Amino acid sequence: MSHAFDVRLDSLGFASAQGGPASVLHPSSGQRGAAKSFYIETFGCQMNVHDSEKVSGVLMSRGYQMVDDPAGADVVLFNTCSIREKAAQKVFSRLGLFNPANVRTNSGANEPAGESEVKAPHGSRRGIVYAAGKIIGVLGCVAQQEGEEIFERAPWVSLVCGSASYRKLPEMLAQLESGNRRVMGLDTDTDETFETEITRRDNPFRAYLTIIEGCDKACSYCVVPFTRGPERSRSSEGILREVRQLAEMGYTEVQLLGQTVNSYRDPTARRMKFAELLVAVAAVNGIRRVRFTTSHPSDFGADIIAAMESHPALCDHIHLPVQSGSTRVLARMLRTYTREQYLEKIAMIRGARRPMSITTDVILGFPGETERDFEETLSMLDAAQYDGVFSFKYSPRPNTLARSMDDAIPEEEKIRRLAVLQDHQRAIQTARNEALVGEHHEVLVDHRGNREGQWAGRTTSNRVVNFTSPRSELLGEYVQVRVTRAGPNSLVGEQLV
Ligand code: 5AD
Ligand code: SF4
Repeated sequence: MSHAFDVRLDSLGFASAQGGPASVLHPSSGQRGAAKSFYIETFGCQMNVHDSEKVSGVLMSRGYQMVDDPAGADVVLFNTCSIREKAAQKVFSRLGLFNPANVRTNSGANEPAGESEVKAPHGSRRGIVYAAGKIIGVLGCVAQQEGEEIFERAPWVSLVCGSASYRKLPEMLAQLESGNRRVMGLDTDTDETFETEITRRDNPFRAYLTIIEGCDKACSYCVVPFTRGPERSRSSEGILREVRQLAEMGYTEVQLLGQTVNSYRDPTARRMKFAELLVAVAAVNGIRRVRFTTSHPSDFGADIIAAMESHPALCDHIHLPVQSGSTRVLARMLRTYTREQYLEKIAMIRGARRPMSITTDVILGFPGETERDFEETLSMLDAAQYDGVFSFKYSPRPNTLARSMDDAIPEEEKIRRLAVLQDHQRAIQTARNEALVGEHHEVLVDHRGNREGQWAGRTTSNRVVNFTSPRSELLGEYVQVRVTRAGPNSLVGEQLV
C-alpha cells in the first residue's frame, strides 16, 4: 500500500489565476512543461474537505497546478455533498453557471477573439467571465448518488466520480487527458481506502487524516451508506506513519476523521482498538493535540474516556450526535440506542477526570415526530449540557428508509422547531461559556483578528477565543489566555504575558 505524505505548496507551485509561474516542475519527471491547472471547490463535511486535499495532492503529483479561481483553470472540480436536499441542489445551481447555453460571445478587448465565456459564478475573485472548454468534474456524494444522471442534467460535465472510487482518479484523469470525453467511477463495492502519495493540506495548523471511510450503520434518514459505501478502516501502521510525517513537517494538531470514527477496526494483525490508536497517535513526538470526529454513541465505550484521561494531548472534546431525545424517534431512525443509553454515555463522559466539552447533531421534524418527542429533544439539551449543537431540518433523501415513512412534518413546523431549539441551546451555551470567565485556557492561534493586536484560536475543548496580545506574531503558537467575556459561540480574552 502506498503511504500518504504531505508537501508544502511552494514545492508544488501553487499559483493564483491572476499570476504566478506559467510552468510547473513535474515531481516525477523533474521536467518543466506547460502547466495544466485545476480549481477545486468543496461542499459539505470535513471528510469532503480532506478528500479535496487528497484529490489536490493526486493532481499536483501529475503536474497540475492549483489555482484559486475557476476562470483560470483547465480542470474545474466540485466535490459535492448530498446529505440534505438543499446541499445537492446547490451543486446543480453552481454547475448551471458553467452551462455553455449561458455562453455569450466575448466582446472584451483583452480576451482572445471568438472565445466563448460563461458568467462568473458567485465567489469568483475576478467576478467577470469564464472561458468555456474546460474539463468539469463532479466528485463526492452527489456524483455517487446521481451517477450518469449528471451527464443528462449537465452535459458539459466530463468526470463523475464518487468518493469510494477516488483511488481510480489517476486512471480516470489519464483517460480524460488522452481525449475521452466522459469518464465515470461509481464503485462502492471496495474494501480499499483512498491512499494518496501526496496530500495538499489547506490548514497549516490542523492536519486532517481519514482513518475510516464509509459507514456500516443504517440510520433510516441517511444517504451516507449509499454515497460513501461500506466501512473500511486504514491500517494502524499507515495512520501512525502519516502522523509521524505530519509531526516532522511541523504540524502539532491532528484530527482523525470518519463518519463513525470510533467504529475503527484495524485491518492488520495488530488489531489496534480505536482507544489504543488514540493513545498511540497522541504519543507521537511533536503532536500536542489530537481530535477525532464523528463518534457514534453505540460504539462509544469507557475505554475511549480512559484513553483521553491517560494522555493530555487527547483534546477535551467529543462530538456525539444524538439526533433526537425521544426513544421512539431514535427507534424509527434506527440509531441503535435509547435516550437512557445515550444519557448513560453522557454521564460517563461527565465522570471523566477532566471536564470534556460535548457537541452534537440534532434532526428536527423527522417523520412522525410529535410535539412530545420534540420536547424530549429540548430536555435532552438541558440534560446533556452541550457546548454546541448542529441542528438540521429533516430532509428526505433518495434510497433511505425514512423517505417512505408516513406523517411527514410540514415545513413551517420544522422551521418553528428549529428556531425554538436554537433559542433554547443559545441560552445553555451562553451560561456554559460565561462560567469560564476568569479562567486561563491554552489557545492554539490560527487567525489574525481584524485589528492590530487581535488574534483568534481554539482551546482544547474546541471553543473559539478572540483575544488581544502585545505580540506581533503569534500564528501557530500555543498561548495562555485569560477569558474576560463570553458569548454563546465564542470567548473573548487577553493573552497572559
Ligand atoms: N436530513 C437532515 N439532517 C440529516 N443529517 C443526516 N442526514 C440528514 C437528513 N436526511 C444530519 C445528521 C448528521 C449530520 C451530519 O447531518 O444530524 O449527524
Ligand atoms: Fe449516516 Fe448514521 Fe452512518 Fe452517521 S452513522 S453516516 S448518520 S448512517
